[in-house]
Amino acid sequence: MSKSTSGTNGAPQTAPGTNSKPSKGGLEGIVAATTALSKVEGTAGRLIYHGYNIHDLATTTSFEEIAHLLWFGHLPNKSELADLKAKLAAERTLPTSVLQIISDLPITAEPMDVLRTAASAWGASTIKGKATVEQAIALTARFPVFLAAFHRLRGGLEPLESRPELGHAANYLYLLSGKQPEQQHVKALDAYLVLLADHGMNASTFTARVVASTESDIVSSTVAAVGALKGPLHGGAPSKVLDMLKAIGTSDNAESWLRSALAVGQRLMGFGHRVYKTEDPRAEELRELARLADPQEFVLARRVEEIAIALLEEQKPGRRLYTNVEFYSAVLLSSVGLPGDLFTPTFAVSRVAGWTAHILEQAGNNRLIRPEADYIGPTDEHFVPLDER
Ligand code: ACO
Repeated sequence: MSKSTSGTNGAPQTAPGTNSKPSKGGLEGIVAATTALSKVEGTAGRLIYHGYNIHDLATTTSFEEIAHLLWFGHLPNKSELADLKAKLAAERTLPTSVLQIISDLPITAEPMDVLRTAASAWGASTIKGKATVEQAIALTARFPVFLAAFHRLRGGLEPLESRPELGHAANYLYLLSGKQPEQQHVKALDAYLVLLADHGMNASTFTARVVASTESDIVSSTVAAVGALKGPLHGGAPSKVLDMLKAIGTSDNAESWLRSALAVGQRLMGFGHRVYKTEDPRAEELRELARLADPQEFVLARRVEEIAIALLEEQKPGRRLYTNVEFYSAVLLSSVGLPGDLFTPTFAVSRVAGWTAHILEQAGNNRLIRPEADYIGPTDEHFVPLDER
């Protein structure tokens, strides 16, 4: 890491023995790795995947093309794409042992916990040795399979077999509903999967790289990342955005609802970002996709967005809080028929491509990630044996 003045616990810290100004904690501004996978430009509001601006990829490429870009370092030609699609399709299976574990979980379980458990169980019998791209493909292929199996079981339905002729997004929708997915839904979900696939050194990717740096396996690294993504300050926000939109109900109610929420110190879900100090470029793409996907819901969402940004500027001046990726993700994912508790897991369906690419990149040029902490506890306590305390 290029600086050592910040702690991971969010507490302001200074480097020992220096007069440096306390940092804000949370490793803000610390460079923790080198990567050729994606570049987040916070001030310009630009996101680049291995050389390509996200705006050029969002609606023109498929998730499989982006996974190829991340894993192999270039966009595929037609035969490379067909090859990757065939490999993903061949891996979309659910071993009986994993199905049994999913079936034994309570139907009230959070799908992120199910995903974590299923991936872990699958890895226990399958994955050995150093991370490989074949393992990345096998794991990425199965995320939708694990989630859809649980979703159907909790609804009293049998899990379905994947359909090899369907792409990643379409097969996921099919596995969930058992119906031929609408083309417009497939396009919207595919664009979402493209937009969420990688994002620099975000919390879950950092987690994956830390675990990978110990030379642990690809599943352990990915499962750790699933845990990091679950929190509302990272990937857990979009269902809360939906709750917020439902609670607001009408455009007329938006300002008073948002003012009251801010007055009691609530964070407005879907706004603010550690790196972007302007609009998140993914939000720009998702706004247009959401407008097309659900014009009615969009009207309320857009009004809430405008008022939220104005209120955040009024009440948190200088913090530069704008719409992040989660706000319109909620509208989009809801419009393709996903229930709120599958929003964050669907984020993982996309981001697993990025996590595994980072794990491979870390393994390719590894050094153990092991930062330090500034110790702030006592040092010279007098020890008293137990029966004298
Ligand atoms: N609503 C209200 N106030 C906010 C928000 C928000 N959404 N976000 C930040 N702030 C305020 C904080 O209260 C703080 O105010 P203060 O200076 O008066 O104390 C100030 O802005 C700075 O906040 P930090 O927590 O230091 O900013 P940080 O960079 O750590 O946070 C984060 C980024 C976690 C995303 C934050 O903006 C947030 O909590 N947003 C809401 C949750 C959300 O949308 N999460 C999804 C993030 S996108 C992703 O990870 C995929």
